Amino acid sequence: MSKYVIAGGNTLSGSLRIHGAKNSVLPILAATLLVNGESVIHNCPDLKDVRSAIKILSHLGCRVTRENDTVIVDASTMSRYDIPETLMREMRSSVMFLGAIIVRARKAQMSFPGGCELGPRPIDLHLSALLRLGVNIRENGGEILCEAGDMTGTDVTLSFPSVGATENIMLAATLCSGTTRIINAAREPEIEDLQNFLKKTGTNIVGAGGSIIEISGASNAVSVEHTVMPDRIAAATYLCAAAATGGQIELTSVIPEHFLTVTAALEEAGCSILSEPGRLFLRSGPELKSIRPIRTMPYPGFPTDVQSPLMALMTKAKGSTIFIENIFENRYRHVCELLRMGANIRVEGKVAVITGVSKLSGAPVSMTDLRGGAALVIAALSAEGISEITGLSHTDRGYEKMEEALAKLGADIQRID
Ligand code: UD1
Repeated sequence: MSKYVIAGGNTLSGSLRIHGAKNSVLPILAATLLVNGESVIHNCPDLKDVRSAIKILSHLGCRVTRENDTVIVDASTMSRYDIPETLMREMRSSVMFLGAIIVRARKAQMSFPGGCELGPRPIDLHLSALLRLGVNIRENGGEILCEAGDMTGTDVTLSFPSVGATENIMLAATLCSGTTRIINAAREPEIEDLQNFLKKTGTNIVGAGGSIIEISGASNAVSVEHTVMPDRIAAATYLCAAAATGGQIELTSVIPEHFLTVTAALEEAGCSILSEPGRLFLRSGPELKSIRPIRTMPYPGFPTDVQSPLMALMTKAKGSTIFIENIFENRYRHVCELLRMGANIRVEGKVAVITGVSKLSGAPVSMTDLRGGAALVIAALSAEGISEITGLSHTDRGYEKMEEALAKLGADIQRID
């Protein structure tokens, strides 16, 4: 079993280049199925989830090659329309492929993604939207069978701005005659990145970044080249790590406008932030202060994915901070592990109250999910003594060589596989 051994107490300093965004590259890899030829995707992070997405593309018959951070997908050889259960289990966001497979094959077959470590993750919004666009859906013993019927563009109103459902509709709509409008669409920057990719495939699409996205016209390109946007969640995580150790860091290859709610919280906690296009500097203040309540919200609100890294930071801030998790039901599983390190946290439903303690102590802890795992790493970096953290398959899903990035900034971290 692989683990991190972290000797806490080193101050992080230096410069770090942020890798491409996991939540952007996954839907874009699905969208390569719309191109009857080669898609050249640059700034592709080397993550477990990206490797899973590549396995799905290969299973579908695509030819996929990787050279450093460039992945080339030739989807002209696509020959299947199913995703086997083993691959669905590897990555919940495989449901992202549903819309794209239907566009290419006019049918798709996969198992239900099921629950995950964040609680139940239904796909009702995805399926009802596809149905509305003219996809016939049959459910059979945990399997979903989809067949394109008379695909006609129409208004699709989401009761909640789901990121994955918005992306699936954007892709499926390229098969529709006429115009599709997604109303109450998710506004995350990753949706804009997908729109930029789709534009390059010849799709007429406007509105991403706002609440209404309009799609008309099919993809007709035979080659596309695209560079994935930087990972705003990884950027936020490394900023929390630097602040937790009283350090100062520079991040390059970032878009600071993508995580303004995070930098505002860090400034309130006493850090100084300086940003310029593509670059951001953080200097820790003399002491960490508690901050006003953090409510996770769809973008441009505070991202649920940064709730746990920021919580790890607040465990040592003077005073109490309240977190209210509004997006996922079960996103406080890292709290038990933080308690083992000496944190003072009380959880009641979707509310967590963190009262700062003067020190955390290194302990053996286990990752429960991707961002909760990052929180444990941050806590361990700022704790006294040694922490052993197991369950690295979680952070491997979303952070490229996390141990190398942190060691480069001065952390005492070892990975034992
Ligand atoms: C994406 C991100 C994830 C992030 C999340 C919220 C990717 C690969 N993952 O996940 O990192 O934490 O957005 O910003 O981009 N829901 C339903 N029915 C549905 C779909 C969603 O009830 O059909 C609910 C979910 O259970 C959850 C909420 O809506 O409570 C948000 O989910 P959604 O925005 O769809 O998140 P994902 O796309 O799964």
